[in-house]
Amino acid sequence: MDKILEISGLSKAYTQGHEQILVLEGLDFHISKGEFVSIVGPSGSGKSTFLNIVGLLDDVYSGEIRLFGRKLEDLDEAQKAVLRLKNIGFVFQFDSLLPEFTVLENIEMPARILGRGEPARGRGLLERFGLEEIADKLPMSISGGEKQRAAMLRALRNGPALLIADEPTGNLDRHNSGVILDDLRRAAGLGTAVLMVTHNEEAARRADRALHMAGGKLNAV
Ligand SMILES: Nc1ncnc2c1ncn2[C@@H]1O[C@H](COP(=O)(O)OP(=O)(O)O)[C@@H](O)[C@H]1O
Ligand SMILES: [Mg+2]
Repeated sequence: MDKILEISGLSKAYTQGHEQILVLEGLDFHISKGEFVSIVGPSGSGKSTFLNIVGLLDDVYSGEIRLFGRKLEDLDEAQKAVLRLKNIGFVFQFDSLLPEFTVLENIEMPARILGRGEPARGRGLLERFGLEEIADKLPMSISGGEKQRAAMLRALRNGPALLIADEPTGNLDRHNSGVILDDLRRAAGLGTAVLMVTHNEEAARRADRALHMAGGKLNAV
């Protein structure tokens, strides 16, 4: 299988005053193309810390990370920024759509930033996920579940190799959570590696592989 991400011996500490808090302690991890992996674990166990590092938002750590076969420490800030924009999509608990733009315009935003805006492709993405009817609506006039799905399509717009989802169903009811999980499964089927953090055990079980964050490491559930 094509490895998208390979991590060995990842450690991360935060400094608070004179104290060092060790959050990740020699963690190993890998994910392949088209794989759907979930991470569960108590609040404060380091899940978001891990996702921030994997998503190239935090580069203060020790250990080795290879993304698409390239060692992260060999990349400069500009290379990482391009890698992030082209190859990594993010979905968070709260949808963060821009309120003054339509759903389609929101979805097109990451492509426009790359100079590759093409509304027909954004519409195609909406159609593939059965959401064509909300394309021209503003975020304020669609439901919470639809907003989260739109944010997910925005994250998928540049065809990322890796989709990082931090509690994507945390703010949704059971029905809408199920819909988002179906969407994530579909994204994996289209070849994106999906890495999801969740509090919900049922959601975690929908993945190909569920991992538990504890003691600064990821272990099979
Ligand atoms: N920027 C920061 N500075 C200091 N401590 C932090 C910071 N971010 C997170 N932490 C601490 O690191 C631990 C892990 O946090 P986090 O990764 O957010 O956990 P989770 O997402 O699993 O709830 C917690 O003890 C938290 O207080
Ligand atoms: Mg968190």
